[in-house]
Amino acid sequence: MADTATPFVIRRADYTPPAFLIDTVALEFDLVPERTTIRNTMRVRRNPDAARAAHLELMGEQLEFVSAAIDGAPYAAVRVHEHGLTVENVPDSFELTLTGACSPAENTTLSGLYVSSGNFFTQCEAEGFRRITWFLDRPDVMATYTVTLRADKADYPVLLSNGNLLEQGDLPDGRHFARWEDPFRKPSYLFALVAGKLVALEERVKSGSGKEKLLQVWVEPHDLDKTRHAMDSLIHSIRWDERRFGLELDLDRFMIVAVSDFNMGAMENKGLNIFNTKYVLANPETATDTDFANIEAVVGHEYFHNWTGNRVTCRDWFQLSLKEGLTVFRDQEFSADMAGGVHLGDHHAKTAEGARATKRIEDVRVLRQMQFAEDAGPMAHPVRPESYVEINNFYTMTVYEKGSEVVRMYQTLFGRDGFRRGMDLYFERHDGHAVTCDDFRQAMADANGRDLAQFERWYSQAGTPRVTVSTEYDAAQRRYRVTLRQGYGDSSAAARETQQGPLLIPFAIGLIGTDGRDLPLRLEGEKEPATATTRVLDFTETEQTFTFVDVAEKPLPSLLRNFSAPVIVEYDYGGAELAFLLAHDSDPFNRWEAGQRLATRELLTLADQAASGTPLQLDEAVVTAFARVLSDETLSPAFRELALMLPSEAYLAEQMDESNPAAVHRARQFVRRRLASALQREWLAIYERHQTPGAYQATPEDAGHRGLKNLALAYLAELDDPRDAVRLASEQYASANNMTDRSAALSALLAAAANTGNGEAQHALDDFYRRFEKEPLVIDKWFALQATQRGTPQRPVIDIVRRLMTHPAFNLKNPNRARSLIFSFCAVNPAQFHAEDGSGYAFWAEQVIALDALNPQVAARLARSLELWRRFTPALREQMRGALEKVAAHVKSRDVREIVEKALA
Ligand code: TRP
Ligand code: ZN
Repeated sequence: MADTATPFVIRRADYTPPAFLIDTVALEFDLVPERTTIRNTMRVRRNPDAARAAHLELMGEQLEFVSAAIDGAPYAAVRVHEHGLTVENVPDSFELTLTGACSPAENTTLSGLYVSSGNFFTQCEAEGFRRITWFLDRPDVMATYTVTLRADKADYPVLLSNGNLLEQGDLPDGRHFARWEDPFRKPSYLFALVAGKLVALEERVKSGSGKEKLLQVWVEPHDLDKTRHAMDSLIHSIRWDERRFGLELDLDRFMIVAVSDFNMGAMENKGLNIFNTKYVLANPETATDTDFANIEAVVGHEYFHNWTGNRVTCRDWFQLSLKEGLTVFRDQEFSADMAGGVHLGDHHAKTAEGARATKRIEDVRVLRQMQFAEDAGPMAHPVRPESYVEINNFYTMTVYEKGSEVVRMYQTLFGRDGFRRGMDLYFERHDGHAVTCDDFRQAMADANGRDLAQFERWYSQAGTPRVTVSTEYDAAQRRYRVTLRQGYGDSSAAARETQQGPLLIPFAIGLIGTDGRDLPLRLEGEKEPATATTRVLDFTETEQTFTFVDVAEKPLPSLLRNFSAPVIVEYDYGGAELAFLLAHDSDPFNRWEAGQRLATRELLTLADQAASGTPLQLDEAVVTAFARVLSDETLSPAFRELALMLPSEAYLAEQMDESNPAAVHRARQFVRRRLASALQREWLAIYERHQTPGAYQATPEDAGHRGLKNLALAYLAELDDPRDAVRLASEQYASANNMTDRSAALSALLAAAANTGNGEAQHALDDFYRRFEKEPLVIDKWFALQATQRGTPQRPVIDIVRRLMTHPAFNLKNPNRARSLIFSFCAVNPAQFHAEDGSGYAFWAEQVIALDALNPQVAARLARSLELWRRFTPALREQMRGALEKVAAHVKSRDVREIVEKALA
């Protein structure tokens, strides 16, 4: 099963069009778990735009060959090999029939055709279709598909595939069939089938042009009570794409299917989206506010792919961000609009803006925490990579999240209307085709009459740009000069290697007066100040000075408002200036940013003190600044929660000259405990004031109250004497009518137990397990809460994790379960994972090796938790290298080998 061939590098520069095209595909499946046979009949012809080849080379993996025919007659000149099959000396145009078999029951990779809970599912992106049948399994080969499914009727009453159902009926021997047709041409990675015992929540809606559409959410029967939210999210997505982009659903039927064994979040197969149960199933008892929001975002994401990805697809996998960056941007905008109540026709512009800002802050947090780290390590790559060994390793934060920022910059440059014009032109030109990131950029450029040649560098340059800002106020001349410089500092080798000159950076700026208000903005040479008090500067040179005139007083600059570009801004703010921005900036993103800068600076100072063994001392001004935010009732609870959340330990460790997770943990805990005790009365008041009595509602407002209230509880749990917190958390745990409050209470009990060793935590953990034993997604939370808890010297978390690995509910083959225990520990609990004795690394190596034999994609994700090893303190670094070498010596898959070899190189 393992691929032991030497890793083979695929390069973007080597792209050539396919020698043959496939116009139609007819697939017939006889579904049997141990051995499924597949008959594949294709219309094939030579590609007029490619060099002539005598033989047809098709990809295939893990397939048993049965027979071949051309134009209905058996064909013997077929060579089957490890990577596929060669059909020799073929005519210019012909019908090729290939029959083969695979073994879904034994497929633990969850790529291709596999069995989960007794049902059949497929996952074809990126290169899974070749595990089902021989094919030109590349996205620039687009065909129409007809699919016939045959299976035992009792075991597999439901048979689904892409597009529209043509007919279904009974067959001899208790079997039945269904025939599906997808009228749209598509690449093979969008093929899907599902067969099994499933039930659906159904709804009929009318699309914008008045056509009736059948919507279905398919799940196992016991999960039907958790489908309402996914259905509502789907309906909202359909409406939103019509309203914001004029894009209508193009099929009569749209299906979502939930599966509990799944490598990623969800998959946009044409008309038949397949989802990880985690992003479908929700009711108040089992899902948190975050789960509800994630489901809305992922349902939106997959639905939006129907246009950005499916109708217009990628020419090759280097263009992945063409669909992923764009679709993440679309789902972020959708969620922001939903949070702002756009679907309700809410006209409270101010509230809507605040809600958009909190969504923006959350997205930027993820980007900076995860993508910036990726860009500083051995896996750094441009949004459009130049090479890869295993494409599955390039479904990354860079392609998705930085890719989304790159798309967002077009909107920042051209406004919503200009962006829409670009999108319209993109579909006008490319609907039904497989295209490149350059085609998208060109459509944006042409629709807005702007040369975007320089903007290309955002796609080809790795690393995070740094913008250094210096300012100068001339009181006599009333002029304020802002000088911007761009570069990459001493960041990764990848940044240096791909460097090609300055980027076009839309740099949003505002100037704030001593009264805390925005000053009017007038650039030198302009007759009048602009009406808006935020300006987007076109920053295109390595160094550029912008002069504001008629500036009445020395301003405080508010830089990169709303995070207008994915860069690091360096400016020497004083502590008092940051506190002022935190209190006054009209840009909510930068208010939050000021607080983060303040906290980060203080935490890094404390971490250095902790590392060198000096006693920790906290600047009281930080406490004062945070106290002000906490009691500012003009700020939404959701915003206050984000503002009072300290930067994560991983992010802070990343900022140190030498990452020292233990020192960061001590520093961060020290600040948490100081904020807890200094603001004890305030936290208690917040806890009381932000209760949400009555029936649970997953609205952003209620979620905001719960979030702030539970943050208060978490801080109270940090007190030396956490009795109040333990009492409140125990009560909240017992009386909660929703998972957000129940899991937050459990987590507070666990935190308090780490401080004082009380018994309530264990009691609640046991109760939690019993209560939710039949809900796998909740049991995942039970594992994750324990894996991410704070350890004590007497009870290191590695011991708890190792014990939980032997729990009857643990199952390494289920990715959600593996992630809930192993990834939670290795990637979300740095202080415990990076234990000095190397116990975390030894555990990591064991698990990567074990997973490699089952599921290389999941193993490769886990392998990445050590990639930043060179940045750590020498003692940790050496142990990490040892663990990496051990893994390198044992693993077989291309997936894991690419990761560890790049890490060690
Ligand atoms: N295209 C999917 C998305 O972003 C991602 C995806 C789902 C995927 N399953 C996968 C990528 C398996 C690689 C392998 O919506
Ligand atoms: Zn996607």
